[in-house]
Amino acid sequence: MNKLLEINKLSLSIVKKKGSISILKEISITLEENSIVGIVGQSGSGKSMLAKSILSLHPLGTSLKMEGSVTFEGKNLHTMKAKHLRSVRGKEIAMIFQNPMSCLNPTLKIIHQMEEIVLTHYPKYPKKLLQKQILESFISVGINNPKERLLQYPHELSGGMQQRVMIAMMMLLNPKVLIADEPTTALDVTVQAQILKLLKRLQKTTQLSILFITHDLLLAHWLCDTIYVMKEGSIVEKGSTDQIFNHPKHPYTQKLIQALPVSGIMPSPLFSPGEGFKDREKESSKSLV
Ligand SMILES: Nc1ncnc2c1ncn2[C@@H]1O[C@H](COP(=O)(O)OP(=O)(O)OP(=O)(O)O)[C@@H](O)[C@H]1O
Ligand SMILES: [Mg+2]
Repeated sequence: MNKLLEINKLSLSIVKKKGSISILKEISITLEENSIVGIVGQSGSGKSMLAKSILSLHPLGTSLKMEGSVTFEGKNLHTMKAKHLRSVRGKEIAMIFQNPMSCLNPTLKIIHQMEEIVLTHYPKYPKKLLQKQILESFISVGINNPKERLLQYPHELSGGMQQRVMIAMMMLLNPKVLIADEPTTALDVTVQAQILKLLKRLQKTTQLSILFITHDLLLAHWLCDTIYVMKEGSIVEKGSTDQIFNHPKHPYTQKLIQALPVSGIMPSPLFSPGEGFKDREKESSKSLV
């Protein structure tokens, strides 16, 4: 498989008057075509800073020192011209976040925001065709009453519906890579499962590659082919989902796995345990007898 996105020894520090704070330490991650890669780590481990570093989306006014490189289809995203990078954002590499409201304009009807995002990248796009495709994108992400929904404002939709709007918006531009930073953390487990199933379906039908960022190992287990485990700004372990779950090597990964619930109600409608889990479940039920 071809490498699509390559993060190579990426380090990031925030420079303050009193000195610099190291946030990311020599992170290397590869996302191949047609795959889903998970980045799992606790709160504060640097996942969102890493996601923002890929497309240089850090808040203005933050003084940063970055080393290493990020390449997309062989082109260095950190050294390319700003104009070129703007054309990569959204059109080639899209992002969705935990809080969709932070990306939606509260004063504009959804339809206008959807039109705007396409016209930004394709100013001459025929209006009639665009409206047809917007409607189709709503149907494909499972939004009921799409015509009515399109004429609503973002706050009139539930969190799950807003996240579907973000995914439909992203799909309109047909990117090659989606970076999803905790896209379901704010949602209840049933809606969370629906959104993840939607992402998996879209990945299969469009060959999208996904970098899925989460603190929830179980979600990564369900969705991802490969998992990178992140701790305090470093990648401590990388492996196939099966390796990470059933043969974790690093003590930190082992601790994360040990901390997962193994019996009783499964924590997510998506969860189905691997072999290692089944063994542990047997062990834990023995100890209860
Ligand atoms: N402007 C800043 N100045 C100083 N430290 C910062 C700044 N922005 C982020 N950090 C620090 O960078 C580290 C990584 O933050 P980041 O938001 O990437 O964590 P995360 O893994 O995404 O956590 P979460 O799971 O809670 O979203 C944290 O320790 C955070 O406090
Ligand atoms: Mg985060």
